Amino acid sequence: MTGITKQFSGVLANDDVSFDVRAGEVHALLGENGAGKSTLSNVLSGLYHPDAGTIHIAGRRVELSSPRDAIACGIGMVHQHFHLVPTFTVAENIVLGEKRPFRRKETEERIRALGEEFGLPVDPAAKVWQLSVGEQQRVEILKALERQATVLILDEPTAVLTPQESETLFATLRAMARAGRSVVFISHKLDEVMAVSDRVTVLRDGRNVGTVETATTSPRELANLMVGREVVFSADDHANRPVIDRERVVLRTVDLHADDSRGRPAVRGVDLSVCAGEIVAVCGVSGNGQRELAETICGTRARTSGEVFIDGVATTGRDPREAIEMGVAHIPEDRLHTGLAASASVEHNLVLKSYRRPPISKGPLLQHRAIRKNAQELIERFGIKTPDAHTSTRLLSGGNVQKVLLARELSSDPHVLVAASPTRGLDVGAIETVRGLLLDAARRGMGVLLITEDLEEAISLSDRIVVMFAGRLAGSVDRDNADITEIGLLMGGNQ
Ligand SMILES: Nc1ncnc2c1ncn2[C@@H]1O[C@H](COP(=O)(O)OP(=O)(O)OP(=O)(O)O)[C@@H](O)[C@H]1O
Ligand SMILES: [Mg+2]
Repeated sequence: MTGITKQFSGVLANDDVSFDVRAGEVHALLGENGAGKSTLSNVLSGLYHPDAGTIHIAGRRVELSSPRDAIACGIGMVHQHFHLVPTFTVAENIVLGEKRPFRRKETEERIRALGEEFGLPVDPAAKVWQLSVGEQQRVEILKALERQATVLILDEPTAVLTPQESETLFATLRAMARAGRSVVFISHKLDEVMAVSDRVTVLRDGRNVGTVETATTSPRELANLMVGREVVFSADDHANRPVIDRERVVLRTVDLHADDSRGRPAVRGVDLSVCAGEIVAVCGVSGNGQRELAETICGTRARTSGEVFIDGVATTGRDPREAIEMGVAHIPEDRLHTGLAASASVEHNLVLKSYRRPPISKGPLLQHRAIRKNAQELIERFGIKTPDAHTSTRLLSGGNVQKVLLARELSSDPHVLVAASPTRGLDVGAIETVRGLLLDAARRGMGVLLITEDLEEAISLSDRIVVMFAGRLAGSVDRDNADITEIGLLMGGNQ
C-alpha cells in the first residue's frame, strides 16, 4: 500500500500511509484508538475506496472496489464484529457465497482437515449460535482460509478472547506464517504484538510513524511511538493510593441471588462490601456470574433474593433509576448497546442520566445551551477526541466511546462505580487514562467495584481481589499478598 489517504467528513483517518507485508510474516498494525488501523485494513479488504494511493499485490497493481475484488486477490478479513449467520452450521457459513454446489459431507471433511492443519478445532456440523465467541472467530478465520486467502487481516482479534484463547490464536497465526501466508494483526496491546509479530507498523493520528523489527524493539519504544510521548506504565503509585474510609461502606450486598437471562441461577449468595475510597476487583472467567452481579447491583437485573445497600440505605432493586438516584454509576461491558445510545450525539449521551434535573432541564424543557456547555466541559476534562459535540457517538473510536461513558458516569459524583472490563479493547494511552480516572474516583471517596478478567489490571489497580466462580465468591486476597497462580486456580474452581 503506497500513499494511502482516506478522509471522512473532515477527519483524516489515513494520511499518506505506506505499508508493506511480506510473505511468511506476521505484521502487527499498532496504534491508539482512532489512529486509523481499521480504516487502513478496510481499504485493503475492499470495503473503503481510498481518496489517494495505490495497492500492489505480489507486484501487480490492483484496484479493489469491493470485498469481492479483495477476496479474489487473496485478501481475507476477520472483522471485530463477526459476519456469521447464527442459525446456519459452521460448514454452511464457511461456504456461504461460494458458487459451487454444496456437498455437506465433503465440505465438513475439508473444514475439519483445514482446522486440524492450523490448530482451529471446531465442529463443522454445529450451529453457529451454539458456539462460544472464540469458536466463532475460528469459523471466520477458516472461512478466509477456505477462500485461499494469502493475506489474512485480523482486526483486534483478541479483544473478545480469554488469555488462553489468545495463546491458541497466536499459535495458529505463527503456523500460517510458517506456511508462507501473511498475517496482518491489528492490536493495541503491546505484549501481544511483541509475542506474535515479526514486524510492527505504528500508526498515529492517521500517519505511519514507523515500521520496526519486533526482535530489535521494546514495549517501551512501541508505546512511545504510539502515543508520541513517554508513557507511565503502572498505576502502582503507593504514596498516591486513595485513602480507604473503613467506617463508610458504600456498597454492601447480603446473600444476593439473581438469575441469568435464560432463567438459570447466576449469582448464588454473594456477600460483598466496598468502602469509600476502596477499589475491589472481581476476577473470574467470563460467564461465572460477574456480569449478572454488576447488573443486579445497578438495578438493571432483578434479584431473586438478598439485599443491596448503597451508602447504608437498602435498595428495592426494582428500577435502574432508583440505583442511579442513590448514587450508583455503571460502566457496562457492552458499551455501544447498553451503555450509550450509539446513534445519538456525544452531547446527548453525556446527559443521558442527568436530563431530568436542572440545569439540563427546566420543568419539561431541555436546556440546549446547558447541554452544549456540559459537553464542552466534559470533552475538555476527559480529553474526548471528537470532531464536535453533536457528532454521532457511533463514529468515535473505541477509546473515545469509553471516555464518553466514563465522563458521563463520573460527572455525577456517585458513591459507587461498578465498572465491567473498563479497559477492554483500549490502547495503552487510553488504558492509562481510564485507570487514572478510576483511581481519581476512589481518591474522591467513591467505592469502585472493578469487574475484570485481566489479572494484571486487578493487581495493579485494586486494594482487594475477590474471585467469582459459578456464581459464588471463591476467595478474597489483599493486593499486597496477591499471587497470580493462586488467583488463577481459584478462577478455575480449585480451592
Ligand atoms: N465511517 C466513518 N465515518 C466517519 N469517521 C470515521 C469513519 N470510520 C472511521 N472514522 C474516523 O477515522 C478515524 C480513524 O478511525 P479507525 O476506526 O480507523 O481507528 P482505529 O485505529 O481502528 O481505532 P480503534 O482502536 O478505536 O478501533 C477516527 O477518528 C474515526 O472517528
Ligand atoms: Mg479499529
